[in-house]
Formats: sequence, C-alpha cells, structure tokens
Amino acid sequence: MKEHTTRIYDPVSDTPTSYARDPEGTHPPLDYPPYKSTALRYPKQPLIYLPQTITEITGPQLYSALGTGELDHDLTRQHEGEPIGERIKVSGRVFDTEGKPLRDTLVEIWQANAAGRYLHRWDRWPAPLDPNFSGAGRCVTDDDGGYSFVTIKPGPYPWGNHYNAWRPAHIHFSLLGRAFAQRLVTQMYFPGDPMFPYDPIFNSVPDEEARQRMVSRFSIHGSEPNWALSYQFDIYLRGPGATPFEDAP
Ligand SMILES: [Fe+2]
Repeated sequence: MKEHTTRIYDPVSDTPTSYARDPEGTHPPLDYPPYKSTALRYPKQPLIYLPQTITEITGPQLYSALGTGELDHDLTRQHEGEPIGERIKVSGRVFDTEGKPLRDTLVEIWQANAAGRYLHRWDRWPAPLDPNFSGAGRCVTDDDGGYSFVTIKPGPYPWGNHYNAWRPAHIHFSLLGRAFAQRLVTQMYFPGDPMFPYDPIFNSVPDEEARQRMVSRFSIHGSEPNWALSYQFDIYLRGPGATPFEDAP
C-alpha cells in the first residue's frame, strides 16, 4: 500500500509544521482482487515521479469567482418536471487536517436515479430512466467549508463483478482544490444499507472505522417538514479521520 502523508498545522501561526501519515487502512489498495476490474487498471510497473510544474499547480483558483449555475446544486430542478423518488438534502463540510474548514472547494456529485439507473450509454440494465433526472450536480464550499445539495435518494443497482452483485445506494463525490492536481474522489453511502457486507468496493477500505467515514449520517434536525430528509456527510482530506479516497495521493 502506498504511504499517505498528512500536513500538521501549528495552532498559533497556522502554518504547516510537520507531516504525519494517514492511518494504515484508510484508503483502498489499488489492486483488490474481490473488486475484479482493479486488476485491469492498477499500475503494474513502478510508479514514476513527475515533478509538478506550473501546469499542475495553477488552475481555476477561485471557483466562487467563476460561479456555478443557479440550479447546479439542486438535481431535482434541472428539468421541466420533478424527478421520481425520495427527495433528500445532502450537505456537510470539507476539512483539511486538524479540522480546518476548506472554503472554495469545488464539490461535484454524480449518481443513479431512484431506480438505480445511470443516464449513461453503458448502463443498460432494465430499470427505468427518469426524463427529469440527469444525476449530476456541483457547488462550491462556503467560508465554513460547507456544501449542500438537493437530490433524489439513489437506488441500488446490479453490476457484473460476480454472481448477484449489487451496489449499495451511493453518491459519487469529486473534490477539486486550488489546482488541477488536487482532485480527490470518493463515494458516500447511506446508513444501515443491507448490502454493505456484500459490496467489494465498500469493503476494499481495510479499516472498519474508515469505512464508516464513507457513510452519511441521517439528521432529523436538518430535515425539513413536509419536504425532505437530510443526510450529513463531512469530508476530511487528511489526518487521523481522513475520508477514504479512491486512488488517494
Ligand atoms: Fe456508482
């Protein structure tokens, strides 16, 4: 498994002081035989270090200044009609090491519809598409590192990994920091999903506590009466409570 480093900040000067490793077992190994397609894509040659150049370390510095569309964060209002399914709010905050909130991070999500079908040409299983749901959204974190989406609870779906393989309901997340090289991808799950024990992707994260950090928390206080239930999903980029990331740096 690769080593993962963590930057520690001095609490007075707020400057980086040292590095520590993310705990062993936080991130999934690149080659995980129960998740069969990893065998096709994990690096089989030693990795080559490519020093970052101006191309990698510059990019859209202020997403809030670039602006996102008015309805980019609301997946239930991107078409003429309302999508079928259970309307939910998904919100949380993005933190760096030591619980420092990260503003101006681009948070993008993509997901299946309520029936578990993606709007994608390769998704052909016999579940209905929803003409009022595309399944993609984005927003930029505010000064408290906060983000919020309105969407439809995705359904589970089958996949070809093994006999009778089904994915637990999940929402894919991508986070993009101040540079193109700072992209992290993970999946958010829903509490109490009965398919957790059978899913090799969920279980590719070795550490049980780290796995639980991919599971959102139902919030009755965040829910809005007669409108939507709320799920909270905080994301920690590094450190002892780091969120597991696919292909973590
Ligand atoms: Fe998926």
